[in-house]
Amino acid sequence: MKRAQQKGLLEVHVHDLRAFGKGKHRQVDDYQFGGGAGMVMMVEPLAECIEQLMAERSYDEIIYMTPDGQRLEQGMCNRLSLHENLMILCGHYKGVDERIREHYITLEISIGDYVLSGGELAAAVLADSIIRIIPGVISDETSALSDSFQDGLLSPPVYTRPSDYKGWKVPKILMSGDEKKIAEWLHEKSLDRTAKRRPDLLDEQ
Ligand code: 6GU
Repeated sequence: MKRAQQKGLLEVHVHDLRAFGKGKHRQVDDYQFGGGAGMVMMVEPLAECIEQLMAERSYDEIIYMTPDGQRLEQGMCNRLSLHENLMILCGHYKGVDERIREHYITLEISIGDYVLSGGELAAAVLADSIIRIIPGVISDETSALSDSFQDGLLSPPVYTRPSDYKGWKVPKILMSGDEKKIAEWLHEKSLDRTAKRRPDLLDEQ
C-alpha cells in the first residue's frame, strides 16, 4: 500500500463515522428493533457519511464487508483492481441497518467462512489483495501474474541458493538453463500440487 501511494498510483482515505454520530455522545450504534443481543450501526451516520463521499467522487462500487457476502476470490480482486474509486464499509457490532445495504451498497464481500469481530481486518485483506495487482505497484510486474490462483492453479515450489544444503538438493532441472524444459517442469509441479491439495480448483477449469 505504501509503495502504491509513493508511486502516486493509489490514494487511501479513512473516514471516522463518529464525525457523523448523533447527539452529544456522537452515537453511531443502537439496540436492535425486535430485540436480540448486539448493537446495530445506525442508518443516519452511515447515510450522511456515504452521501458526503458520493458528492465528492463517483464510485465504481460501494462495498460492504460482511460474512454473508460473496466470497472473495482472485477474479474479483482482478476486476476491482481496474476500478478508479471504491468505497469500503466495514461493519462492526451486529452489522449495519439493513436500509444502508438496500439503498447504497452495490457489492457485499466476505473473505471466507469464519466470523471476525468486525469488518476492519476483512477490509484490509480486500484492500491489500486489490492494491498489490494495480499495474506498476510491484517491481517485478510478472510476479503477480504467477501467483497461486492467478491461473487457477497453485504455485510450484521455489528454491534459492545454496543448491545443496546438508545434502538437500535443488531439482537439477532448475539449474539446467533450458527454459522450455523448466517451464514444462514448473507447470507439471503446479498441476501435481493443485491435484493433491486443492482438487476443487481443477474441477472449476
Ligand atoms: Cl467481511 N466480516 C466479518 N465480520 N467476518 C468475516 C468477514 C467479514 N469475512 C469473513 N468473516
